This record gives sequence, C-alpha cells and structure tokens, in this order.
Amino acid sequence: MLECWLILRQIITKETLMPKTFLPLDSSLYDYMLEHGVREPVLARGLREETAKLEFSAMQISPDQAQVMAMLVKLANAKRIIEIGSFTGYSALIMAQALPQDGQLVCCDISKEWTDIGQSYWQQAGLAQKIDLRLAPALDTLQALKQQQQQFDLAFIDADKENYSAYYDICFELLKPGGLILVDNVFWGGWVVDLAQQDADTLAIRDLNQKIAQDPRVDICMLPIGDGLTLARKKHAS
Ligand SMILES: C[S@@+](CC[C@H](N)C(=O)[O-])C[C@H]1O[C@@H](n2cnc3c(N)ncnc32)[C@H](O)[C@@H]1O
Repeated sequence: MLECWLILRQIITKETLMPKTFLPLDSSLYDYMLEHGVREPVLARGLREETAKLEFSAMQISPDQAQVMAMLVKLANAKRIIEIGSFTGYSALIMAQALPQDGQLVCCDISKEWTDIGQSYWQQAGLAQKIDLRLAPALDTLQALKQQQQQFDLAFIDADKENYSAYYDICFELLKPGGLILVDNVFWGGWVVDLAQQDADTLAIRDLNQKIAQDPRVDICMLPIGDGLTLARKKHAS
C-alpha cells in the first residue's frame, strides 16, 4: 500500500501537475514573431536604434513587449496612463500612440538627459500634447497626483526596483476600479529564482512578486515576455 502511494506521489509531482508546455523561443522563432506579430512605428524604430548606441540601452522594453502593451492600452480603453520610468521615451511613445486623441500619459523620470531624447521623438510623432513629463523622483510625483485625487486607467512600473513595492501601492490607489497595473522586469534576468542572489533589487522584486501573487484586490497574470511582465487588474468592489 505504502509502495503504491509512493509511486503515485512520484507520478503526481508538481512537475506533472504543471507540465512544461511552453515553447522556448530561439532566435529564428523570435525573429518570426517580430516579423509577423509586431508593427513597430518607423519613429519608434528610429528611437530604438538611437537608444541602442547608449550604455544603458538594455533598460528599454523590447518591440514585442511594446506591441503587447499597446494592445493592452487599447483593450483597457485607457484614457489616462501613468508611467514610472521613461528613459529615452520608447514605452511612452508606444503607449501614447495607442491612446485616443484626447488621452493623456503622465511620465515620471529623474533624467533630463535621457528624457530629452524621448521628447524629441514624441514631438516628431505628434504625440507631445498627450505626454506630461514630470522630472522628479517618482514617489513625489505620485504623492502629488494622489493629493490632487487624480485617477488613471493604467500604470506602467519600470523604474528603480527598490521602490517597486511603494510604486505598486500608490498606483493601486490612483487606479480606477478595473484599471490595470503593468510591472516590468518581474523575472529580473532569472535572478528571482536564484536564491544565491540576495542584492537589494532582487529582494525588492521577489517581495513585490510575492505581494501581488497574494493580493486579493487584483486579478493577476504574469507574462513571460521581455524580462517578465506582470498584469494586475484592480477588481471592482463587490
Ligand atoms: C528601465 S528604465 C525605463 C525604460 C523605459 N520604460 C523604456 O522602455 O524605454 C528606468 C528609468 O527609471 C528612471 N528612474 C530611476 N529612479 C527613478 C526615480 N526614483 N524616480 C523616477 N524615475 C526614476 C531612470 O532615470 C530610468 O530612465
């Protein structure tokens, strides 16, 4: 009897219950996806190419992630978005383009140097009137927006990792019911599952991933795109 149970337990392992049904993307399949699933605007491509010359270009989201985010903006019928971490403006350009004509995107960043690049592309793309750049620590901007009782349909968190949890909390308050929080870098290059990594950024991302997984106020989904993107949708009050 015990033997049967041990065999059964071996069969019903976590691995069996959660089969690895995903298909790893090699570079040819990734290129195929870019070719058939991504419509990157010409100016966005130009901005990506210009950013690629910078030392920290890897901070920019990928074009396939941008495509997903543009789709989410449209599916959510978002009119007001808050972005935390804009860098050279690529994700902002993509989301602003997906917004309706009267939509608004508030961008938070602390770097004038990087956001100057973005602003030039936003202008060329005819999107500058939709984008309100706030050059200040994001927590200050978010607190000010909260005091003004501003509300948003979508928030994209992609700045300093140590403040991720605080950004999530305040974004939750700023969101309308049904609104969506997108959290970038939730895989953190795979370090979230490497327990040898105990640096502050990795711990902050692990903490937030755990917090969102257990947060009953949101519907969740973790997408294996880019460096991992979590979607947390604020539930309507029941
Ligand atoms: C990963 S990059 C953003 C990439 C951008 N979303 C894109 O796809 O191109 C992170 C940005 O967060 C900004 N940042 C870092 N700490 C910040 C803070 N405390 N407040 C606001 N922005 C901050 C950095 O200046 C940097 O531009």
